[in-house]
Amino acid sequence: MVVIAKTQDFKDGQAKKFEIKKGKETLEGFVLRRGGKFFAYVNRCKHISIPLDYGDEDFLTSDNKFIMCKNHGALYEPETGLCVSGPCAGRSLEKIELEIKGGKVYFTR
Ligand code: FES
Repeated sequence: MVVIAKTQDFKDGQAKKFEIKKGKETLEGFVLRRGGKFFAYVNRCKHISIPLDYGDEDFLTSDNKFIMCKNHGALYEPETGLCVSGPCAGRSLEKIELEIKGGKVYFTR
């Protein structure tokens, strides 16, 4: 397990990016706190394989309801990663499994 951050480092709606190794590839992931829960996904839109954010770790819509791709406005459910609106509707972000233990956020390699 790899520590990403401490739970206390996140305000509601805040996200942090991290690197994850998958085979020979290094991917960028992000973990997001929303409503006291944590979710993590690979930072790659299902429309065009580019990051969802503009490098600013800003992933949610202004009302904190959806993860939004900044490029063309696709909306994803934070809980499932499912795209519910936009050019990739019906497809899902690649989920990263998390574990929360002792006030820390981990992902399993
Ligand atoms: S690249 Fe994400 S909606 Fe187009």
